[in-house]
Amino acid sequence: MCGIVGVIGNNRAKDILLTGLEKLEYRGYDSAGIMVADDSQAYLVKTPGRVSELRALANDVPEGHIGIGHTRWATHGVPNTENAHPHQSTSGKFCLVHNGVIENYLDLKNDYLTDIALKGDTDSEIVVELVDYFYRQGKTPFEAFKAALDKVEGSYAIALMDVEDSNTLYLAKNKSPLLIGLGDDCHYVGSDAMAMINETNEFVEIKDGERIILTPSELTIFDRESNKLTRESFVADIDATDTEKGLYPHYMLKEIDEQPSVMRKLISEYLTEDGLSTIDENIISHMASSDRIYIVGCGTSWHAGLVGKKIIEELTNIPVEVHLASEMGYDMPILSEKPFFIFLTQSGETADSRQVLVKVNELNLPSLTITNVKGSTLSREATYTLLLHAGPEIAVASTKAYTSQIAVMAYLAQSIGLKKGLEKASSIDLAHEMAIIASIMDSMISEKELIADLSESFLGTTRNAFFIGRGLDYAVSMEAALKLKEISYIQAEGFAAGELKHGTIALIEEGTPVISIITDEKTASHTRGNAKEVESRGANVLTISLENVAQEGDQLVLLPVHELLTPLVSVVPLQLLAYYASLQRGLDVDKPRNLAKSVTVE
Ligand code: F6R
Repeated sequence: MCGIVGVIGNNRAKDILLTGLEKLEYRGYDSAGIMVADDSQAYLVKTPGRVSELRALANDVPEGHIGIGHTRWATHGVPNTENAHPHQSTSGKFCLVHNGVIENYLDLKNDYLTDIALKGDTDSEIVVELVDYFYRQGKTPFEAFKAALDKVEGSYAIALMDVEDSNTLYLAKNKSPLLIGLGDDCHYVGSDAMAMINETNEFVEIKDGERIILTPSELTIFDRESNKLTRESFVADIDATDTEKGLYPHYMLKEIDEQPSVMRKLISEYLTEDGLSTIDENIISHMASSDRIYIVGCGTSWHAGLVGKKIIEELTNIPVEVHLASEMGYDMPILSEKPFFIFLTQSGETADSRQVLVKVNELNLPSLTITNVKGSTLSREATYTLLLHAGPEIAVASTKAYTSQIAVMAYLAQSIGLKKGLEKASSIDLAHEMAIIASIMDSMISEKELIADLSESFLGTTRNAFFIGRGLDYAVSMEAALKLKEISYIQAEGFAAGELKHGTIALIEEGTPVISIITDEKTASHTRGNAKEVESRGANVLTISLENVAQEGDQLVLLPVHELLTPLVSVVPLQLLAYYASLQRGLDVDKPRNLAKSVTVE
C-alpha cells in the first residue's frame, strides 16, 4: 500500500506532487507529506491528515523543481506527523519515501543506528538513516543508497532525495510497484501511471532489484551487479478523465453506475460480431486440458471466485477450488496432476495473491491473471492475462471489478466448454444474456431513491446485519456483507441461509436486519423458510428476489436472468444499499477508515 510520487526538472514540482498524491490516495490515506526543493532550499511538509490538508499546509511552499511525496497506509507506527513520509535523516542530508515493509528493520537499527535518535516508529526511517550512515562512512550518495539497500530485506519502492543536490533522485524497487514517467527535460516517478497521467503517458518500467539514478535529462538503470541496462519506454492507454468523478458525489456511486456499460463493453471485448470467443486459443486449450482449476483471490475478488467456480464447473465439467490467497500462500493444498491457476485481482498488485503466484511459478505451473490493470505485477508474472476492461476503479469498495470478474469468467468458461464440445456451453447465448443483464442493472440503478429509503428504514442506526442466501445467493450474501461493513462499519455477516439455525440465529433479536437474497427456484422456498424463522424471532427481513420466485411483499424484484449469472444483477442493489448506509451515517464512502485500495503488504 502507500503511494509514492516524485518529480525532477519540472518547475511545478509542488503541484505535480500534490495532484499525484490525490490520485494515489486510494493506496492509503492515513497521512501524507512532500519534500520540495529549488536550488536554494528544501521544504518538508507532513500531516497525519489527507492530501487536501497537506495542500492547505503547503500553501506557502514555493513550487520548486524537484520533490518526492507520499500518502501512507500505516504498517509500523501510528499515523502521526513523525511517522508520515518523507523521512529526513537526522543529519538532514537525505530524505526518502518508501512503500512496502522492511522485515529486518530492527536488526538494521541495532547493527548500525544505535547512536541515532529516531523520530518515529517506522521501518522506513531506518532506511534513510542507513543511507546516511554509509554516506558518513565515505561513500557517494548513490553508493550509500546501494549499500543500504543491500542490507535491507523486505519489499520496497523507494525514492530518495539528496537535499544538497537538487538535480538527482535515486530510486529502487523490490516487490512494490514503481514506474518512471518521461517528460520534456524532466522525469516523474509514481506507484502507478495514474499518479503521473496529467503530465505524461510514456513510462519506463522498473524491475525488482534495480537501482536508478534520475536527473532531469537522464535515466540510468543498474541491475543488482551494477551493470547499466537499457529499457524501452511504453505508452499507457489511460484516459486522464477516467480517473475523475465528474458530477458524481463519490467514485463508488459512479463505479456502480458504470456497471451496465462495462457489461456491454465486455461483450465486444470477448465476443466477435459472430459470437465467437476472442480469448487467446492457448489459454483455452491449456485450461481445457487441465484436470482442476484453482481460483485464488482476496476479499471481493475471492467472492467473485466463488461465483466463478459455479460457472466454470457448470460449463466446463472441470472441478474448481477457490482459495483465499492469504491462506494458500502458507498452506498449498495437495494439487491435482494437471492444475491450472486463476488469479483474480482488480489491482494486479495484491501481495497475498502475488506470493501464491510466486510459488506457482516456482512449481512451473500454468496461470492466468484476470485483472483490471494492464501491465500490473500479477499480470506480468502469470502465464496469461485477461483484462476486466472496467476502467479505473478508484473507490476502495470494489463494485464494477466484482461484476466484470464474474463476466470475464463466464466468457472464459464458455470458451473452454465449447472447446471440450460440451452442449451446455453452446446452449448459453452470452451476448444476449449479458445485454439483458446490462439492462436489468440499469433498471436497478434507476431505483436509487427506493434503495436509499430501504437503507434508511432497514439499516438506520443498527449495529449489525445479516445477509442470507443459498448457492450463488450465498456467495452474493458474503460480498454484500463485506460491502456493508467496509464502508458503513455495520457489523455484517453473509450466511448460508440454512446455517443460521445451527448457532448464529442466537444473535437475532427485535429489529435485527436480515437481508434475504432469493434468485434460485431450487432453493427459494427453503430460504423463505429461513427468513420466516428469523422474522418470527423479531428480525426485520428485507427480501431481494428474482421475478420468477418473487412473492408479494418482496421489497426488490429483479427481472429474470440466466441462473448462472444472477449475482451480476442481485449484487447491484446490495452495493447501493451499502453506499446509502455509509452516506446516511455521514461516513467517507470512498475512503473508509483503516483501508486502502491496493493491498501490497502480506
Ligand atoms: C473490497 C475490496 C477488497 C479487494 C481485495 C483484493 O471492496 O475491494 O476486498 O477485493 O483487497 O484486491 P484485488 O482485487 O486488487 O486483488
